[in-house]
Amino acid sequence: MQPYGNAADISVMGLGYVGLTLSVAFLTVGERIHGVEAQEPRRKQLLKGEVDLYEPSVKEVVAEKVGSLFAVTATLPDRPQVVFICVGTPYDKALDRPSLEHLEAAVQSIAEVMDEQTLVIVRSTVPIGTTREVVLPILTAKVKRPRLVFAPERTIQGKAVEELKRLPQIIGTENEEDFKFAAAVFAKLSIHSIRVSSFEAAEMIKLTCNSHTDVIYSFGNEVAAIAESYGLDAMEIVGAANLNYPRPDIARPGFVGGSCLTKDPFHLMYSSRNKGYEPQLISAARQLNESLSGRIVSRLDKNRDELGWEWSSLDVLVSGFAYKGVPQTDDVRGSAVLDILPMLKQLGCRGLYGHDFIVSEGMIASLGATPISLEDGIKKCQIILILNNHPQYAEMDFHLLLDNQEDKKMVYDLWGVLREKSSVLQTKCNFYQGVGFGV
Ligand SMILES: NC(=O)c1ccc[n+]([C@@H]2O[C@H](COP(=O)([O-])OP(=O)(O)OC[C@H]3O[C@@H](n4cnc5c(N)ncnc54)[C@H](O)[C@@H]3O)[C@@H](O)[C@H]2O)c1
Repeated sequence: MQPYGNAADISVMGLGYVGLTLSVAFLTVGERIHGVEAQEPRRKQLLKGEVDLYEPSVKEVVAEKVGSLFAVTATLPDRPQVVFICVGTPYDKALDRPSLEHLEAAVQSIAEVMDEQTLVIVRSTVPIGTTREVVLPILTAKVKRPRLVFAPERTIQGKAVEELKRLPQIIGTENEEDFKFAAAVFAKLSIHSIRVSSFEAAEMIKLTCNSHTDVIYSFGNEVAAIAESYGLDAMEIVGAANLNYPRPDIARPGFVGGSCLTKDPFHLMYSSRNKGYEPQLISAARQLNESLSGRIVSRLDKNRDELGWEWSSLDVLVSGFAYKGVPQTDDVRGSAVLDILPMLKQLGCRGLYGHDFIVSEGMIASLGATPISLEDGIKKCQIILILNNHPQYAEMDFHLLLDNQEDKKMVYDLWGVLREKSSVLQTKCNFYQGVGFGV
């Protein structure tokens, strides 16, 4: 059996957030990467050394290495030594099942060029059983005993390249040789690998990590709902409860977004139902987290009504399109904005304006809002919503922009990013803080 030794042969299928950051991590330690991307516009862009997503260091490394250490093509090389699968695996909510079409297509194209020595590393997040039941049969049709492991991506967006060189790597396989091969590949990044006994164990670890985070966040949101129903400040309760108290921290209330946290609990629930167990906690957490946007818009509408304002004469600024502000990202997948913009439109607001510190104006426009600077938006709009926790909000003199206004505006600080100035803001506008549901 040929050991992994030649540094010149790592292929990465799917150059989105996961495939590109993984490629960059290997490129920075001098590895040669053969990137395979199905979308032609993305390939062309990468070949020019340009990147259409935000992740620290990715743009610079791609610009430097493309055409030398980094090849970008539509197809795999013949008989690749190592292939990472990093394609999307969405959950189809309408059909209530995972969409594995991209994964199956990627595996088919690997089967066409692989040989007995090729190591296939599934990195996409999948329901439990997918590696054995979907990936393995396609590869086995080509070679008798494919070398295959499941090794999930567990980095956080906005810090992916940094974490790729630090987080322990879970590798699921029943085969010692395949584990050693995969561990040797990851050792190029100087990371430690943890072997688990099966594909299924590794698949479940990934889904468990994200579902756990979703549940933890939902508890913060439940606390916020209860606190606000008593007219209490949820941030005060969570902040003081956590201070110097040696127990697990209560999560800060807020939207729960991103492509993974809004999808992976569904993959885990689907997997569980397949074996006859109906998950309770995971399901309740997801429902609670998903209900935030609708409840906040209802609260906003009620507050507007109390002020006697008509939607037809109201312009709304929505700031914070990315699903989170820390670590900063340009990703809008699973962002609250996707639910809130259509609701505001349906209510009949006069104008809908959008701002973000990282998300491009093109993306803001494509989601149906008119891009505007934060300063101009604050001056122009009567209703202002801050949807994420980007640190730049706290740095700006938000309150000064509210001076010399004819009418008091409505400002929703949903993450408490203006908390330090809340007493000043309360004198200058109708100021609402937090994601609790209010009364
Ligand atoms: N985004 C994250 O931070 C993150 C973290 C952990 C795990 N994951 C998982 O990793 C996987 C990828 O996520 P992502 O955010 O990078 O998705 P993405 O949509 O940003 O990227 C996937 C890329 O794969 C390409 N692709 C699809 N089919 C292909 C094929 N047959 N051959 C070559 N390229 C193909 C797409 O064009 C796209 O560019 C998903 O399963 C996701 O759940 C994502």
